[in-house]
Amino acid sequence: MSFLDPVLVIGHRGAAGLVPENTLPSFQRAFECAVGAIELDVYAIEGELLVIHDDTLERTTNGSGPLSAQPLAALRRLDAGGGWPIPLLGEVAAILPAGVGLNIELKGPDTAGPVADFLARTPVADVLVSSFEHVELRRFHALAPAVRVAPLFDRWTDRAWTIAEELGAFAINLSRRIATRERLARARELGLRTYVYTVNEPAEARTLIGNGATGIFTDFPDRITAARLDPIGADAPAAGR
Ligand code: G3P
Ligand code: MG
Repeated sequence: MSFLDPVLVIGHRGAAGLVPENTLPSFQRAFECAVGAIELDVYAIEGELLVIHDDTLERTTNGSGPLSAQPLAALRRLDAGGGWPIPLLGEVAAILPAGVGLNIELKGPDTAGPVADFLARTPVADVLVSSFEHVELRRFHALAPAVRVAPLFDRWTDRAWTIAEELGAFAINLSRRIATRERLARARELGLRTYVYTVNEPAEARTLIGNGATGIFTDFPDRITAARLDPIGADAPAAGR
């Protein structure tokens, strides 16, 4: 599987609906569900890339307060679910099976440089770097122009097309609330892939794919990989970007 496939099921934070999100067992569970790719969120702390969604610790760990207020060693001793620590990006990359894509979402400030450095020294065959922070994503693109990027959009703006063009984006990643048939079609015309988050019901996944989306982020990869998702096919964006 690959980000170039006509339809890609992406395990959101691993398999966040099944196993504590952004932990190694969550990613392992997503692989067992035969996802085409996994998504994870990263912050840079003391030069290391930590895989965690929030900038505070309460929701997903037994710690509290801002992530940035604690030294890396203390963060790594926390329980992020099931006794597992907050993983490093390198630890997730090390268990990534051949043929499974990796979507790295830049969450924290100053993640562009560390992620570019990481990818320069760690071979990941099929990678997509995304962010809601388009300025940070532009910095990343300047540092690693060969790596595919995708701006994320939670609310629609007609500037999305310009933002994507300026970034040389491979895809735009859209909230399910704004992934209309018209926008999915326009993206297709522009040669952009579209990955839609977070879709947990097979019927909605089928509708989105039928409307032209090229991928789905899901917390429940067991349900979605089992669903029949037929790409609209012949006019899928051309491979090779
Ligand atoms: O990248 C898709 C999705 O993860 C974006 O939203 O808040 O779950 O990181 P969030
Ligand atoms: Mg994310």
